[in-house]
Amino acid sequence: MADKKIIAVLGATGSQGGGLVRAILSDPNGGFAARALTRDVNSDKAKELAKLGAEVVAADVDDPESLKKAFAGAYGAYCVTFFWNHFSPDKELAHANAMAQAAKAAGLKHVIWSTLEDTRKFVPLSDNRMPTLQGKYKVPHFDAKGEADGAFTSLGVPVTFLLTTFYWDNAIYFGMGPQRGADGKLAITFPLGTKKLAGIAAGDIGKCAYGIFKGGSQWIGKTVGIAGEHLTGSEMAAAYSKALGQPVGYNAVTPEAYRGFGFPGAEDLGNMFQFYADFEDYFGKSRDLNTARALNPSLLTFDAWLAQNKSRIPLGEAAQKA
Ligand SMILES: NC(=O)c1ccc[n+]([C@@H]2O[C@H](COP(=O)([O-])OP(=O)(O)OC[C@H]3O[C@@H](n4cnc5c(N)ncnc54)[C@H](OP(=O)(O)O)[C@@H]3O)[C@@H](O)[C@H]2O)c1
Repeated sequence: MADKKIIAVLGATGSQGGGLVRAILSDPNGGFAARALTRDVNSDKAKELAKLGAEVVAADVDDPESLKKAFAGAYGAYCVTFFWNHFSPDKELAHANAMAQAAKAAGLKHVIWSTLEDTRKFVPLSDNRMPTLQGKYKVPHFDAKGEADGAFTSLGVPVTFLLTTFYWDNAIYFGMGPQRGADGKLAITFPLGTKKLAGIAAGDIGKCAYGIFKGGSQWIGKTVGIAGEHLTGSEMAAAYSKALGQPVGYNAVTPEAYRGFGFPGAEDLGNMFQFYADFEDYFGKSRDLNTARALNPSLLTFDAWLAQNKSRIPLGEAAQKA
């Protein structure tokens, strides 16, 4: 343990960080140790990580001093922000700044910043194809992450920018799987037309991150995009139909309709899907499947993810009506 490189992992009880902690712990001879950061070291999830062999340490991204303490003595850190806990890009920026400063203070050798594009570089605020949200964002939960890249570079933190993408697990936790419509038929609903969505099993993000830490200095200063598969709505519906053994259709609604669904974050997500669709070629190139598979040889395809997770997908009534 003493001579292992410690990775301090934010969001360790969540999807991205949890995948990384488990990837580190399942490779005991890999030379790395996992320090799981959590607000509550006594939660069931934290205790489970401790049982698996992680060092569990208290930290709160709202408390910069706690981050400094939690990063001290580590080799590296996995930094991620938690947009859906507060819906505030400004908070994400503040949290990313605090992470970068803590990484600098601790003299970390390798940080992975879980980022997304600042979509305003693709769709300026003056571009009316989608509304401007919260006064200065197009896709709030993307834009601040992209803007926060500069927090790490300006401090000279040795950082790898990990471009994540849409979790297929949103079908389990976010109501984005097949829903039964008024006609009794199952369908998925995305404003993607015939365009592809870069998707990934959430657990594979941490496994790819582990591949980046193992690769070490070759990844510092680089931007790495990952996905498990790029699929159209029709292709996802066909995969659901096969996995669930019943027909699943695809409702290709407009981005405007999606933004109007009224659930918290609907406008943000409507803009996000429009960004995916309008920049399909960019997404295909920036989330390279071969790169992801080289970092994580067990990378799941959508069919493989469905085989493992289909029983966890709630097939509820459609909450969203176009
Ligand atoms: N859903 C998607 O398709 C998708 C795709 C790409 C990127 N993302 C991004 O992923 C990020 C969320 O990551 P995730 O999905 O891995 O999270 P998650 O599974 O929702 O887990 C949330 C994590 O946040 C931690 N947390 C919350 N508030 C905290 C605080 N104040 N201080 C320290 N830790 C805190 C929780 O830890 P404790 O409760 O143990 O403290 C928990 O581990 C979001 O920013 C989202 O935009 C999502």
